[in-house]
Amino acid sequence: MNKRSYININKIKINNKKMKNKTIILNSRPIGEPKLSDFKFLNEEMPEITNGEILLKTKFVSVDPYLRGRMSDAESYVTPFELQKVISSGVIAEVVESKSEDYKAGDFVSGLLQWKEYQTSNGNGLLKVYNKLAPLSTYLGVLGMTGLTAYFGLTKIGTPQKGETIVVSGAAGAVGSIVGQIGKILGCHVVGIAGTDEKVAMLKSKFGFDDAINYNTAKNIKKTISAACPNGVDVYFDNVGGNISDAVHANINRLGRIIVCGAISSYNNTSLESGPRAEHFLIKKSALMQGFIVSNYAEKFPEGMKKLSQWIKEGKLTYSETIVEGFDSIPQAFIDLFNGKNKGKMIIKI
Ligand SMILES: NC(=O)c1ccc[n+]([C@@H]2O[C@H](COP(=O)([O-])OP(=O)(O)OC[C@H]3O[C@@H](n4cnc5c(N)ncnc54)[C@H](OP(=O)(O)O)[C@@H]3O)[C@@H](O)[C@H]2O)c1
Repeated sequence: MNKRSYININKIKINNKKMKNKTIILNSRPIGEPKLSDFKFLNEEMPEITNGEILLKTKFVSVDPYLRGRMSDAESYVTPFELQKVISSGVIAEVVESKSEDYKAGDFVSGLLQWKEYQTSNGNGLLKVYNKLAPLSTYLGVLGMTGLTAYFGLTKIGTPQKGETIVVSGAAGAVGSIVGQIGKILGCHVVGIAGTDEKVAMLKSKFGFDDAINYNTAKNIKKTISAACPNGVDVYFDNVGGNISDAVHANINRLGRIIVCGAISSYNNTSLESGPRAEHFLIKKSALMQGFIVSNYAEKFPEGMKKLSQWIKEGKLTYSETIVEGFDSIPQAFIDLFNGKNKGKMIIKI
């Protein structure tokens, strides 16, 4: 090591002691649409590691619709965030200091981590990731939670057969854009539903959907779906719920499968919606409707990642990311999910 780089390393260490560590806590539980004031930035002391631990520098943060549920105190499959406590989500981080035998400085990891610029970890629950195989950010999207949700939800519950018709709502998002492409790989007729003309065009040109519908401009969405699906709907991958799903249910075929992945249209509701009920279609068409959470398939994640990366390598699967820059942008990027600002996976690069 030459003298110059030695001096630089010392400088970094001294600066680190003085550096503050930005952190985002839940300031208030959102009522209706989340607002910036529901989040609060703190400047904490830099954390220090003890034996067996690593110091992590946050590189990419995932914001996801399900975090909205954790911000309320309603009982769910994941525990609510606590008020005035740090928020967590999927994060890719770099190991910058290690007192662990399992990690060295320069390693990258992915895991459920806190919204902090720096944090310590004992390595539990972290997965090592390698930027030589795929860009790091993909481990939050197509090779991470949302890609796996698309893969397992569609193949295990939807069980699509060649020649069948699949409809996907939230089609231009992180999960939906992968669902549609897997449907095409499996030889199906795929129709997507999304919120803008730009997204509709992208579904057809970039992701190879056979047809796509803008739910904001379609005059009669039930009829528009029917026209785009001349043979009816065999599999519906539902990311949004509400009126859009009512319209798809009305087009479901005999023995159709409805995969209830998400219901983003209702996540900010302050009262329970009532609407057309699905029982009618389910009975008449002997159709299946099943909800799921991706962690049901946790034991099979390596199989899913292998399949998804193989399809990417073969050029059969592509992905889109909306990458927003800067730690301070995390709350706004989360809020923007509910206004459809993202195409593909919403990610914050730190
Ligand atoms: N079950 C599971 O394990 C699991 C795992 C991951 C995700 N999910 C669920 O899957 C869904 C998609 O998640 P994602 O991560 O891929 O998010 P995403 O689709 O990348 O982002 C959210 C998208 O939802 C659409 N949207 C927002 N408000 C809407 C509304 N009122 N009506 C219709 N569409 C609306 C917007 O697109 P437009 O411009 O098209 O409106 C927005 O871009 C969410 O419901 C999420 O909770 C479930």
